[in-house]
Amino acid sequence: MNETEFLERLDRIRDIPTLPSIVLELNRLLQDPDTPVARVSQIIERDQAIALKILKLVNSAFYGVRSKVADIRSAVIMLGFNAVRNAIVSVSVIETFSRRLRLEGFDATDFWKHSLAVAVTAKALSARTRLNSPDNCFVGGLLHDVGKVILAQYYPELFAAVWSASREEGSAFHEAERGRTPAGHAAIGAHLAARWQLPRGLVEAIRSHHDYRAELENAEFCLMIHVANLLVNSYDRNPDCVIDLAALHPDARKFILGTLQRAGDFYAELAEEIENAYAFFLSPGAAR
Ligand SMILES: [Fe+2]
Ligand SMILES: [Fe+2]
Repeated sequence: MNETEFLERLDRIRDIPTLPSIVLELNRLLQDPDTPVARVSQIIERDQAIALKILKLVNSAFYGVRSKVADIRSAVIMLGFNAVRNAIVSVSVIETFSRRLRLEGFDATDFWKHSLAVAVTAKALSARTRLNSPDNCFVGGLLHDVGKVILAQYYPELFAAVWSASREEGSAFHEAERGRTPAGHAAIGAHLAARWQLPRGLVEAIRSHHDYRAELENAEFCLMIHVANLLVNSYDRNPDCVIDLAALHPDARKFILGTLQRAGDFYAELAEEIENAYAFFLSPGAAR
């Protein structure tokens, strides 16, 4: 089976998670910048559960908005359409996937912790460089590895084979995927994001997070997701965050040298925000 056949077969799995229909509706409305705020807030308010979560999120320590946001309309005015859509994608995506999923080598909580750490790091990189909107980067980081959940949930044998091979070879998960699965987690995640009708730039960033190329259409955005993942992974290996620069794509090397004095210090400063993100998104009942 080749990658295309594998992804087509994935499309036929009926219970593959979908995002709430609100996300699709907002995607459509967002394409027209003249959409009135009232229309957007009406749509969100129709789904009380989501409306509540959005208010909880924007009022959480994690968002850092000082004055209390009392209603959806104010949230939309304060944050803008795009940020609100991103907030909805963030809260729904973690909920959509089973947090209880447990396989050897896959623990859903650890998985989302990694994803949230990459999300916060990507957001901070974009705030520092102003190369893209911080909340686009947050969602990109949050979703970059989502293909792994699909692999673990729907193809547990494939997942287990890749995981044990990566352990035995001491290689990264995406390296161990080669030759063992028809489509890697990056391709699977991109396929899913496209199916959810998320923006094309986001789909490409997911697809290229282990395979950054300068000729990508939205290379700067993809680079930030790629580098954020590198930083989190190297921090997990050692807290000084020592990165083997020679092994990186020249753009990633240039980006890191130009943006960060010391990667370890940069990452350490994010610790509190990462903890806030865990508390908001992962503590039982937090985002619900
Ligand atoms: Fe990955
Ligand atoms: Fe990752």
